[in-house]
Amino acid sequence: MINRRQFIHSAGATAASVSLANLPGLALAKTDSGQIELRAKTAEHALPGESYAASKLWLYDGKLPGPEIRLRKGEVVRIKFINELDEPTSIHWHGVRIKNAMDGVSGLTQDPVAPGQSFDYEFEVPDSGTFWYHAHNKSWQQVARGLYGPLIIEDEVPVFDRDHDITLMMDDWRLDQNGQLHLASLGDVGDWSHAGRLGNFITVNGRREPVFKLFRGENYRLRLINACNARVLIVSPAALGAKILGFDGFDLTEPLEPQFDTLPVAPAQRVDLLVRGESLDPARLNDVGDFALQELTQTTAYSMAKFEFVEPPNGPQKTTSLSLSPNAIAAPDLDNAVDVTLDMTGGAMGRTEGLIYQGRQLNINEMFDTGQVWAFNGVANLSDQPLFRVQRGQTIRLKTMNQTGWIHGMHVHGHHFRILSRQREELVKDAWRDTFLIDGDETVEIAFVADNPGKWLLHCHMLEHAAGGMNTWFEVI
Ligand code: C2O
Ligand code: CU
Repeated sequence: MINRRQFIHSAGATAASVSLANLPGLALAKTDSGQIELRAKTAEHALPGESYAASKLWLYDGKLPGPEIRLRKGEVVRIKFINELDEPTSIHWHGVRIKNAMDGVSGLTQDPVAPGQSFDYEFEVPDSGTFWYHAHNKSWQQVARGLYGPLIIEDEVPVFDRDHDITLMMDDWRLDQNGQLHLASLGDVGDWSHAGRLGNFITVNGRREPVFKLFRGENYRLRLINACNARVLIVSPAALGAKILGFDGFDLTEPLEPQFDTLPVAPAQRVDLLVRGESLDPARLNDVGDFALQELTQTTAYSMAKFEFVEPPNGPQKTTSLSLSPNAIAAPDLDNAVDVTLDMTGGAMGRTEGLIYQGRQLNINEMFDTGQVWAFNGVANLSDQPLFRVQRGQTIRLKTMNQTGWIHGMHVHGHHFRILSRQREELVKDAWRDTFLIDGDETVEIAFVADNPGKWLLHCHMLEHAAGGMNTWFEVI
């Protein structure tokens, strides 16, 4: 059996030694009618490198990650999604304040797209920023197989040109001894009741440790996206001399010096960094003379990607001043907020007296038999009644109490929110987020204006936790 505690560090004969261009955008793939076609299909791909046996993945357009979809803020996009897999699926456009019918949640906002069928997504993108798309039917399996890709919405006048705007989509895979995706453990109830499916091999843009060549002294936007099923990736912007431009796609009002040496990025969260390759601490340089984006959850740091800073051929560029244009979003009206509480229970080693699933009380044995091992307010998964139902425009103050021993990354569909209080983290006051972290036994309060009509999910983005019960919905009317 694979050793899940240890990352596989050097599976490939050599780490990637070429500098990679940016991900190709999808803009060229538009048909004459302006529609984009996107296909979910099976594909063979050797994750650790060509010399290894290929894994059977499920990918958008056969690519890992799926093609980068780049749009302009305010644009209306039309995407014909064709399902060439043998099982039903749908696409969720994570973080986009989208109209409800296009949110892509199988079983709530649409029927899953059957094999051989297609679905036309058409929506406006109201905010600029770093978003992503992923499967939203049995996500614990479909995302683990590779069904995800970046969705980048540029500002009307982009602050960074294409050469200075780099997407880094990070994922951890669970590989067996042959370097193939470990399929037998998909759906393992042990994962569902513990931390979720953790991998032992990290890719960035589908590759092990890609190298990016950057011109020293020029401004770059790095868009980090955590596409892991369950791993909270710990990164260190400070080690790259980076500032933080924004979280979960929404730019801050100005670049922020990292407050701490490490920054956790939960599954589905994004962080945009500003790097200039100047005044970097030489002690952070590795022996080949480059800087690594490291993952720090284990005792040994894991180098996910590398940056080689080179002198610009025509001398240092004049850096134009950097002014961010944060998205406009309604501020919560806390004096007139509706208070909602969410009590998270269950999981291994947790206190639980059972839970309700599909209207039926389950005891502990039944919980483990059905895989419904987590609950929100005593209920596992979606029930007929929403967590709350409010009129459009109402401010919600949501207090989440994590009574489990596990960390969770909680995602609100269709809305961005402010974090009002969190016990274990200094807050960035002007940050808007769509996914928040909550530690074991922690309480977190968030607030947002429920101004997007429809039925929206609220769930843990540790995908095994969501499947195992950490899933509810609310309605804005
Ligand atoms: Cu990114 Cu409901 O998910
Ligand atoms: Cu969780």
